[in-house]
Amino acid sequence: MVDESHTMHEGTAMQNQWTSLLKDSVIWKGYDDQHSIEVARLKIQNFIVPQLQRLNATRILEVGCGSGVGPVVLRESGFEAYGIDPHFKDDVTDTYSFLISGEGKRIPFPDRHFDLVYSLETIEHVGTRDGMLELAEDYQIERRLFIRELCRVSSRHVIITTPNKYFPVDEHHVDMHGNPGFRVHSPFENKTLSARELRNGFREFGFELDAFLNPRGYYQLERVKKKFGRIGSLVSDGLLRLSSNRLIGGSFLNPHLFLLFRRLDRA
Ligand SMILES: C[S@@+](CC[C@H](N)C(=O)[O-])C[C@H]1O[C@@H](n2cnc3c(N)ncnc32)[C@H](O)[C@@H]1O
Repeated sequence: MVDESHTMHEGTAMQNQWTSLLKDSVIWKGYDDQHSIEVARLKIQNFIVPQLQRLNATRILEVGCGSGVGPVVLRESGFEAYGIDPHFKDDVTDTYSFLISGEGKRIPFPDRHFDLVYSLETIEHVGTRDGMLELAEDYQIERRLFIRELCRVSSRHVIITTPNKYFPVDEHHVDMHGNPGFRVHSPFENKTLSARELRNGFREFGFELDAFLNPRGYYQLERVKKKFGRIGSLVSDGLLRLSSNRLIGGSFLNPHLFLLFRRLDRA
């Protein structure tokens, strides 16, 4: 029989150690305090874990894993999880061999090594000059290479979450001072991506869009809730529910994309 208290104790010890060691490697303002680490933990436990269980996936890779909270939480839950991010320091990767310093376009694993690869709030930063949203000239090439690599190392599924280009407000990004962003933008700008662009991008590498996932548990619009109180909470919950409707998911009515892609030529 599993000794639950022992497991929990070990988990807490690992997280405490991880928190102090990894906090320093987070270059993102607003991603390194205790609250944001807790938010990141909740979205793994309440959104990612149920998807992995449903899809029967055990060997997992997170691309753009920030502080590394995702792979740590998944390992504590019994998954064989790995994470890659360009900003890990050597002492982090020396301590945790399952955390790798590197870019999504060059993943040091063989073809189809993972059951499932996921990447949360990262693809919109690929191909940018500042690591945020200022596009470099070759951003399309960079994003294509990123998608190609995610597809290469997954034998079955890829999950991508990112703000919807067609929704006029980017609710996810804080401004450069770390304040809640609510960046208003034109649907014709290319900083963020649309479901159609992602669908076409993945199709090129043998993956089809399987579902607009229900974002329950993702804890995504908490900034809207915090800023606009109960009304904000009702509006954001309603909007998030629209995300999983296949007709509405790709349209300007949906603030955020939660996309599941499936490999077409599964062995
Ligand atoms: C907004 S943060 C999201 C962190 C985490 N996925 C989360 O949801 O909490 C974006 C992350 O993507 C990483 N990133 C940026 N460009 C990347 C690239 N080309 N390949 C892999 N990760 C990248 C950044 O270092 C950063 O940790």
